[in-house]
Amino acid sequence: MRQIKIFDTTLRDGDQTPGVNISSRQKLEIALQLEHAGIDIIEPGFAAASPSDFKAVSLAGAQVRNSVIASLARANENDIDAAREALAGAKRPRLHIFIAASPVHMKYKLNMTEDEVYAAAVEAVRYGRRYFEDVQFSAEDATRSDRNFLCRLFEGVIDAGAATVNIPDTVGYIQPREYAELIGFVRNNVKNIDRAAIAVHCHDDLGLAVANSLAAVGAGAAQVDCTVNGIGERAGNAALEEVAMALTVRKDFYDIGLNIATSEISRISKTVSDMSGMHIPPNKAIVGKNIFIHESGIHQHGVLENPETYEIFPPETIGKTRNTMLLGKLSGRHAFAEKARELGFSLDREVLDKAFASFKRIAGTKKVVGDEEIAVIIRDFVDQSILDSGYRIDMFQTQSGSAMKATAMLSLTKDGVSKCDAAIGNGPIDAAFNAINKIVNKDISLFEYRIRAVTDGADALGEVNVKIKYEDNIYGGHGVSVDIIEASIKSYVNAINRALYYSENS
Ligand code: KIV
Ligand code: ZN
Repeated sequence: MRQIKIFDTTLRDGDQTPGVNISSRQKLEIALQLEHAGIDIIEPGFAAASPSDFKAVSLAGAQVRNSVIASLARANENDIDAAREALAGAKRPRLHIFIAASPVHMKYKLNMTEDEVYAAAVEAVRYGRRYFEDVQFSAEDATRSDRNFLCRLFEGVIDAGAATVNIPDTVGYIQPREYAELIGFVRNNVKNIDRAAIAVHCHDDLGLAVANSLAAVGAGAAQVDCTVNGIGERAGNAALEEVAMALTVRKDFYDIGLNIATSEISRISKTVSDMSGMHIPPNKAIVGKNIFIHESGIHQHGVLENPETYEIFPPETIGKTRNTMLLGKLSGRHAFAEKARELGFSLDREVLDKAFASFKRIAGTKKVVGDEEIAVIIRDFVDQSILDSGYRIDMFQTQSGSAMKATAMLSLTKDGVSKCDAAIGNGPIDAAFNAINKIVNKDISLFEYRIRAVTDGADALGEVNVKIKYEDNIYGGHGVSVDIIEASIKSYVNAINRALYYSENS
């Protein structure tokens, strides 16, 4: 059976989703979960793009041992040097060089001719190979490139030492049959193709990213680029969970082997959703919350008799359990640590202590705290360095009613200095945000506000994700509490702490 590799670019292409900004600490947590799931190659960032991406690549490089860690780089020595420095501690480093190959990109973006692009690509791969055993080359916008030029380019970079050549459908333009034909064309016309693996990278602008990836696998692609939950530029990338489950459920059809432990899918999907602030639609294939819920009586009857009537795979395949062990207010630190491990988190002592204290506070107000709620609580603390250097909420008080203007009073501490202020607003949350703005005294505006109950029931934990605008950038924040006003304040302060941290550190 043929084996293919999964290249996960959630932390690089996925992080390019408009409004998403995953911190380097959060990226490390996700990278460790991806490694645990058996993902072959993880791309935590683009080292030359920002200090935060550089840090994400080096943190993952230092801690991930089993998966290959890749850094993206443009075809120039500066970018390659940055990748080299960031990957210095990696056990299995990969340099991922890209340059655009389509007429429209070469003319309007690069202002380069085919010959110049060819020379830059070959030179970059040659330079990269001085420092890296494993070099991947991507011809950006390959599906709108001249096929003969694409083949010449691939032949040149393979001769220069590239072991993987990627054919990205950068703008989600190609159709499945057409993509399969293109793979066949490359296989038949690149003379040295037997010395390299063919990779594919699909965007979802026409909703075909997964279908195109699967067509490419059928045509001989050996590596598929994906992102968890399909996040990414514009309409996103091919969703990892969809590609992996199509190949798993329909193994009879594809006859392809994968290294991924599909039972990790549900957990990683939730982690990425929380950390990116990108909610999963209930009907999302594989990981949506409706996937194992049957509404019609006829379907319910069928599933009770035999789940195979309406379920093409059991929930356990993706790590969902129908019954989970619940923790409550009497659960101790040990049980909590066990649960954190079971949920896939590798927490250091300090983060574990803080998450446990938060769990205890929440458990004191409700009977049981489910797995999903515990995962949300823990994720709140993963970004510890940012939380530590930013504002801390000392106390808040709000008042509202039908016959009064909502008011909020708040005290925040930063660098040992406490500041207190009060404000009015259109409701207690708006008033609290106004009071925070007065204390922080920066030009910050609320861009997006989202609230959801983590589980069903009157005592569910409320999770708030906000996006704020500061200095022309968008930053996300996340907060959880049984009290939605507290969750809102936490998420707003969290977003402000990120905004200030990134603006000071980049
Ligand atoms: O979409 C694309 O072309 C990319 C490349 C950098 C691989 O993300
Ligand atoms: Zn891409």
